Amino acid sequence: MSKLWGGRFTKKTDQLVEEYTASILFDKELAEEDIQGSLAHVKMLGKSAILSADDVEKITDGLLKVQGIIRRGEMEFNIGDEDIHMNVEKALIDEAGPVGGKLHTGRSRNDQVATDMHLYLRKRVVEIAGMLQKLQAALITQAKANEETIIPGYTHLQRAQPILFAHHLMAYVSMFQRDIERLQDSYKRINVLPLGAGALAGTTFPIDRHYTAELLGFDGVYENSLDAVSDRDFILEFLSNSSMIMMHLSRMCEEFVLWSSTEFHFIELDDAFCTGSSIMPQKKNPDVAELVRGKTGRVYGNLVGLLTVLKALPLAYNKDMQEDKEGMFDTVKTLQGALLLFAPMVETMKVNKDRMRQAVSQDFSNATDIADYLVTKGLPFRQAHEVIGKTVLYCIQNGKYLLDLTLEEFKGFSTLFDEKIYEVLQPEQVVAARNVYGGTAQPQVKAAIARAEEATARTAAWVEEYLAKSK
Ligand code: ARG
Repeated sequence: MSKLWGGRFTKKTDQLVEEYTASILFDKELAEEDIQGSLAHVKMLGKSAILSADDVEKITDGLLKVQGIIRRGEMEFNIGDEDIHMNVEKALIDEAGPVGGKLHTGRSRNDQVATDMHLYLRKRVVEIAGMLQKLQAALITQAKANEETIIPGYTHLQRAQPILFAHHLMAYVSMFQRDIERLQDSYKRINVLPLGAGALAGTTFPIDRHYTAELLGFDGVYENSLDAVSDRDFILEFLSNSSMIMMHLSRMCEEFVLWSSTEFHFIELDDAFCTGSSIMPQKKNPDVAELVRGKTGRVYGNLVGLLTVLKALPLAYNKDMQEDKEGMFDTVKTLQGALLLFAPMVETMKVNKDRMRQAVSQDFSNATDIADYLVTKGLPFRQAHEVIGKTVLYCIQNGKYLLDLTLEEFKGFSTLFDEKIYEVLQPEQVVAARNVYGGTAQPQVKAAIARAEEATARTAAWVEEYLAKSK
């Protein structure tokens, strides 16, 4: 079968070149979008009287037939036809006859491929926002079940101050909220139509780009035809947003791995989300958490890969840009795969509340509070810090925790101490005392949960509206 661009050539393409330059093995993923774009393009050609109504009908019918063939999995994609655009066009000509050759009027593969990717990514971005919202909901459910559970809060991975476990989980809800908002914001840059830019300079046909945009549900068209075909910022932005989401997931994974170790024993991940060892019968490994943490690397790699491809590329289209696809598809697959597992993994994890509570009674994470206590008695904070530092050292040297000290011992460090210190030092009191907006005291955490629930409801509504809009 001859090439769609074969006219200028006197020789067949080298077989290895054909294989090396073809993108069909991966860009067939864009088949739906390619046909969607072509259906709108041909309709616009009819409206602009560039093609006759009869031609438009024949081409449209042909495209719908090809769509059916592809959806039924009956399409034979051919490396000789290089990419999805030419595979579809060939199939169209097979179905509709030579009139199919009129579809490409006023269009280039350069604006076509960019259009396909805009169509593809806007759907994925909405789906991913929806998956993040489900994960937030799972975290909120766990947070509500743990509004009284106290765990050690850490800095430098050293016990710092006790906090509510709910507060810790809600920190991730905040991160994912920013991720969702970044995706929502990126949507407006994705939802712009490049079609009509032609190869780079526009087209001699009197096309109506705004009409095509309207048909495809784009909010606008690219201002500049060169930019339209050379812009991949929207993909970079997606890869960057995805990297950040993976980084957030990976931090959570690391905590899950730590918390489910025998040393911490704060949580137990459900059997369904763990795997065993082929040699050590006792093992239950947090493989999902580890693998999500590991796969973060490839998503970062995809971002850096495409940034590097685009660096120093002259305007407008260059074949290098075909390298934009595999990393994008891989990122979508990796991210969606992780998110799909994460929500149920969070929902089903068991929280060892007693073990967490026990942990905070065997540390010095209440030390800041005695310092604050002395401050309320009039001692400057810096001096209070010094006094408590000495008290803690005394405890360490004598194998005691702060709550084990007698009032006599306390008074040996400062005469300002009285009976009330034993109440101040209780982890529950330490938590309750941090009653500032965004703090770990229970009323604050409950209020944060309520606000987060409003935000997730807004996201759910946005996802529903935009899923319909992005079809
Ligand atoms: N397969 C190509 C890509 O993914 C489509 C655009 C090809 N354009 C061209 N002038 N060769 O980038």
